[in-house]
Amino acid sequence: MKGLILSGGKGTRLYPLTYTRAKQLIPVANKPVLVRVIEAIRDANVTDIGIVIGTNTGAEIQDKLGDGSPWDVNLTYIMQESPDGLAHAVKISRDFLGDDQFVMFLGDNVIEGGISRLISDFATSEWNSQIVLKEVQDPTAYGVAKLRTDGSIEALIEKPRIPPSNLALVGIYMFDKTIWDAVNSIQPSARGELEITDALQWLIDAGHRVYPHVHQGWWIDTGKPIDMLEANSLVLEELSPCISTDAVITDSEIDSRVTIERGARIVNSVIRGPSIIGENTLVENSYIGPFTSIYHDVTIRNAEIERSIILENSCVCDLVARLQDSLIGRNAQVKHSDDKPRAIKMNLGDHSNVWLV
Ligand code: DAU
Repeated sequence: MKGLILSGGKGTRLYPLTYTRAKQLIPVANKPVLVRVIEAIRDANVTDIGIVIGTNTGAEIQDKLGDGSPWDVNLTYIMQESPDGLAHAVKISRDFLGDDQFVMFLGDNVIEGGISRLISDFATSEWNSQIVLKEVQDPTAYGVAKLRTDGSIEALIEKPRIPPSNLALVGIYMFDKTIWDAVNSIQPSARGELEITDALQWLIDAGHRVYPHVHQGWWIDTGKPIDMLEANSLVLEELSPCISTDAVITDSEIDSRVTIERGARIVNSVIRGPSIIGENTLVENSYIGPFTSIYHDVTIRNAEIERSIILENSCVCDLVARLQDSLIGRNAQVKHSDDKPRAIKMNLGDHSNVWLV
């Protein structure tokens, strides 16, 4: 069995963070989503993994992941010249995948409980494909499955305006070599992409066996900022807390579900978990509340932060109100100023959002 991770695409829904970086490299609980995907595949004993990358962010992803050896996997990079759809990404991975069975994992998906069971069920079955479904409140943002009364799949529709069910397609798919006929037979959809839902529909209509597994745990497609915060909260809940022996904690109250990484300094502060403080970060005279991830080399001084993600080299200082439900990118400065005239001053990137009270 091989693995295929899709990490091309544009990430427009996460602007402005994704103007300058791959959305799959944004960390959740201080670990990039893409690394979480690699670890989930490796934990299912699949170590030969192809990664589809795009022209904009491919170099950054290659630079970050290298040959995969830090995670005990072999990575092969497959360049997709333009984001022409998930089935197109499969199509261009033919040489890497050969006729092997494979698991395809979308590089922006986070799922509870890993995929070991799914992989072993598929490897020992007669199915040509296995897909994963999850009940969601608003299925219109996803591929949606319509099941027959016996539980088999009747139809799969990509982002329907009127969904036939509340069962969304999770970004984890397993295929055998019958997928090659499917991806070579379908045509681009109305939005100009080769859709994996159309390839799956082709398999079903051709009489191949596509088994739907309904996932009971949580699942997040980290497409939008609100999804990143939700994924961050859920992963922090699962994290086994650990305080590095190399961290310095002075006059502070740290609760039991807090992780503090190497070289971090906590001075005169209160940290409530679940939360994580990254390497060489300074938290001084501050309160860090639950569901917060502060990444590496950040300075937090005289501030209160809750349910937020702060990325590397940023600074949040001297705030007069609590920062909450926020996603702050790299090298950002959020500060109080006493300069005259007293006014709100901003240098915001395109597509930024600010909520003032
Ligand atoms: O997350 C689950 C959903 O993922 C499914 O329910 C949908 O059926 C499926 O189409 C997909 O929808 P999204 O709109 O979320 O796909 P997105 O464009 O975000 O791409 C998912 C991942 O695949 C992301 O890591 C980027 C990568 N990708 C995407 C395209 C279109 C590629 O590598 N190449 C591509 O051409």
